[in-house]
Amino acid sequence: MNTLWRTHFRGREPLVLGVLVSGSGTNLQAIIDEIDRGSLNAKIAVVVSNIASAKALDRARTAGIPTVVLDHKAFADRAAFDTKLVETLLAHHVTCVVFAGFMRIVTSVVLRAFPNRVVNIHPSLLPAFPGVNAQAQAVAYGARLSGCTVHFVDEGTDTGPIIAQRGVPVYDDDDEASLRERILRKEHALLPTVLQWIADGRIEIDTSGDGTRARVRLKPYS
Ligand code: GRF
Repeated sequence: MNTLWRTHFRGREPLVLGVLVSGSGTNLQAIIDEIDRGSLNAKIAVVVSNIASAKALDRARTAGIPTVVLDHKAFADRAAFDTKLVETLLAHHVTCVVFAGFMRIVTSVVLRAFPNRVVNIHPSLLPAFPGVNAQAQAVAYGARLSGCTVHFVDEGTDTGPIIAQRGVPVYDDDDEASLRERILRKEHALLPTVLQWIADGRIEIDTSGDGTRARVRLKPYS
């Protein structure tokens, strides 16, 4: 075994989250609510949106969380945007980055700054239906089961090591909207749960398999 990578987050210190958003922010709200309830040992240091009108920003402001808008159209290229993003996250002392409906692909600029500390939630059971409109893809394909996936981000589109998944049925009369709602309810439970696993130091990434994908292991509570 050559590498057994363990998250740096061991126990008592709250995770310092930077939450990246582009839209309605219901997953952000779920994180805020679980922190308030005391079931997630984290604080959100900053919410960053690439869309100035994102409803997620209102949710952050209501919760008293600092917000930053970085309009991707104002940057020359992805690397320039990502450089500013990293600068913003580091200025807020972020230790774990969460993509909660953040509709941007990031480059190695972000991944190098936060190695194995960037988490995304995606509304399908990956590797099925990556990319945009995952719920519509599942309905159009005739899938009978879909769900959500929380995974570490790598340089691909929804390709990083899978941390956890939850499934939901797809019914005959589902459309994109009804499936989205059913999946979102699972997302809101799963994302804070995974973040607490990270806070507890329970997540390990095993890259020891020769030529195979990195795999995530969830350690039992010690
Ligand atoms: C969620 O379905 C998430 O999985 C996807 O984008 C959506 C964001 O929803 N990446 P919200 O902004 O958290 O309400």
